[in-house]
Amino acid sequence: MEIRATDTPRLDWTGETLAVGLFEDDLELTGDLAKLDEKLAGTLKELIEETEFKGSAGSSAVTRVGADRSIRKIILVGLGKPDALKVDTLRRAAAAIARTAKQQKVKTLGISLPLLNNDPAQTTQAIAEGILLTLHQDNRFKSDPEDKGAKLENVELLGLGGQEAAITKAQSISSGVILARELVAAPANVVTPITLAETAAAIASEHGLSLEILEREDCEKLGMGAFLGVAQASELPPKFIHLTYKPEGTPTRKLAIVGKGLTFDSGGLNIKVAGSGIEMMKTDMGGAAATLGAAKAIAQLKPDVEVHFISAATENMISGQAMHPGDILTASNGKTIEVNNTDAEGRLTLADALVFAEKLGVDAIVDLATLTGACIIALGNDIGGLWTTDDAVASQLKTASEVAGEKFWQMPMEDKYFEGLKSPIADMKNTGPRPGGSITAALFLKQFVKETPWAHLDIAGPVWADKEDGYNNSGATGFPVRTLVNWVLNQG
Ligand code: BES
Ligand code: MN
Ligand code: ZN
Repeated sequence: MEIRATDTPRLDWTGETLAVGLFEDDLELTGDLAKLDEKLAGTLKELIEETEFKGSAGSSAVTRVGADRSIRKIILVGLGKPDALKVDTLRRAAAAIARTAKQQKVKTLGISLPLLNNDPAQTTQAIAEGILLTLHQDNRFKSDPEDKGAKLENVELLGLGGQEAAITKAQSISSGVILARELVAAPANVVTPITLAETAAAIASEHGLSLEILEREDCEKLGMGAFLGVAQASELPPKFIHLTYKPEGTPTRKLAIVGKGLTFDSGGLNIKVAGSGIEMMKTDMGGAAATLGAAKAIAQLKPDVEVHFISAATENMISGQAMHPGDILTASNGKTIEVNNTDAEGRLTLADALVFAEKLGVDAIVDLATLTGACIIALGNDIGGLWTTDDAVASQLKTASEVAGEKFWQMPMEDKYFEGLKSPIADMKNTGPRPGGSITAALFLKQFVKETPWAHLDIAGPVWADKEDGYNNSGATGFPVRTLVNWVLNQG
């Protein structure tokens, strides 16, 4: 599929299907739309009336055009109220257009959507992202897929001529999101710690990044007892992945992104019981997947920022080698941890990864993890939790996520709750009481970052969607690759 941006006015566009965005309750056809309606012998007006189209955000209507053969079909898409128009409104409008076009087997599509903030680059990028992310179709595991995907061959963004760079940017970012989706969606017998390391290697060689993989023995030498405690029951070797992007000139900033990489979380000896969603625990590497997705995008976008992409990848399994509940582990910063619950394993792997990241001397660290069911209870499936000790990082991440249309809500770093992690025998336990479970998880991680500005993102809910919504199809979403990419680009 080719996406192009041109200056063709919508009135003059000829081709198979034209898609036009309309604001809510602003359905008077005036100006060029009146002319377009005239040219189409009243088809626009009829379509609005017959489908009771109101222009509410995300709504759409489609019809064949009888009269004028210069256009065969017309798609209307609702944009909501004009003063509520945001970047994500455009992305979602493009998604609604793409879904209709796919269903209608459209091959050639012209899209006319309003300019946002007088910014053609941002407008173009949002529309292109909406199309690319909606039409991504994962048929890897189907021998004879029912849904063979869209037939779209040519997409023309009208009135956005000269915005080729914004289209390329959308393609780079979408390729990262799609990589993350495919890693998350693949089951644990397909994506293992070895696969994550191989994926990092493929990104490194394709885009010229440097890669360091620490094997079990290397991690032992660094004293990563928390990570290795989790890894010890798996038949598969753990892989500590450290991928580095360096700009050509002197970097303006050095950042680290650290993703939880549990390719399967059985819970360990505190095994996940029936009904706990154990079969979904292939998604427990969503943090690592988004980290690699962001790496793939950033490697193509080449900001002036040095970025370290880190994941301590392993499985949480059971065997005679498994951690016993109650075992005491020593992390690479020397702190001892009583493992009162082997199912709170993500924070153990992140502990050593955070210590490693801080030793690199970066200016800021963001970790992202499918860390707690408690965060899903607090914020639902669409919103990630954000914890930070640093106001600047908090506001950078909020800006980045707002533009990405990936929702986060800042949660309290309530130091008092650390009492819940006090251990009679070690420096801390890994698990606190059920109330505030996502907060104690964040407080646990905080023990492994000394002074570097740091934020923790709990993405347990939004990495997966049970049903399609906007440009997300049902299944893996690739959350929050676009937030991470924006965060990095805004500092370049
Ligand atoms: N990977 C899970 C968190 C999770 C749960 C992600 C549901 C996605 C959906 C994590 O390792 C875990 O098991 N957390 C426990 C922590 C508890 C033992 C303190 C949880 O949330 O129940
Ligand atoms: Mn767990
Ligand atoms: Zn887990």
